[in-house]
Amino acid sequence: MIYLNGKFMPIEQAMVPVLDRGFIFGDGVYELVPVYSRVPFRLDEHLTRLERSLEAVRIRNPHSRAEWRAIITKLIAAQAFEDQGVYFQVTRGVAKRDHAFPKDAEPTVFMMANPLVNPPQAQVEAGAAAVSAQDFRWLRCDIKSISLIGNVLLRQLSAQAGAAETILFRDGKLTEASASNVFIAKRGVIAAPPKSGLILPGITYDVVVELARANGMPLELREVAEAEVRAADEIWVTSSSKEVLAIVSLDGKPVGDGRPGAAFWRMYRLYQDFKQKVMRAGKREAVSA
Ligand SMILES: Cc1ncc(COP(=O)(O)O)c(C=O)c1O
Repeated sequence: MIYLNGKFMPIEQAMVPVLDRGFIFGDGVYELVPVYSRVPFRLDEHLTRLERSLEAVRIRNPHSRAEWRAIITKLIAAQAFEDQGVYFQVTRGVAKRDHAFPKDAEPTVFMMANPLVNPPQAQVEAGAAAVSAQDFRWLRCDIKSISLIGNVLLRQLSAQAGAAETILFRDGKLTEASASNVFIAKRGVIAAPPKSGLILPGITYDVVVELARANGMPLELREVAEAEVRAADEIWVTSSSKEVLAIVSLDGKPVGDGRPGAAFWRMYRLYQDFKQKVMRAGKREAVSA
């Protein structure tokens, strides 16, 4: 079952008019919430980011927080599987094609749940490959926009190279990857770019930062030079579906000793423990030492 504009229905029955501005202009925003054992992970943070994205693109938020929660809860319950990736998007609605905002269009709301696909254990243990590219996207990467053509083209570079991600540099500095945030570690010190218009403020990024701080792992949020990434002992990518994944080769060259490093394993275990705790509690829990 999926949710479209107030109704639950099989996906085959879900139809959107061709003049929807999501289809015509990519004029909309989205979220992807991981759900473990039917418990949504960091739902409030995802809803906060959705509200921020909607505000940034001036699409009226069609639902209160309580309404969003009620729809997601119903959708999760309607699935046959426990671990889910709940995708939802809001577009500016259906209107005659014209770039300027329509006066009276109703936002289109679509939500679906798919089985959550985390990296297989073999990949977690061996680490993954990445390639690099120049970040040619726009300057509002902090908005979770459905206009993903830049990310799609960049991700395809790594897909064609048989790699898991494309790590992006702009003006000689690390931004993020095509569908994840990036951390490096050097001599035990973790570093990642600070939040700005150049990266998506990842919910997983926040969890990793909180876990590092709560557990005394040195971490710096600052500009990270491309040369530092290439000389790093460890590189990790983080996202709701990848969780924390070690990158062990970049552009065909080994990262550190070519295996997931000590800082990665520590963070990986902290992340998995935190997830278990959230699932057991059945609700959001704050990070604690
Ligand atoms: C470009 C980009 N950066 C970062 C992320 C990670 O965000 P999150 O941890 O909220 O999944 C994503 C997730 O889809 C993304 O598409």
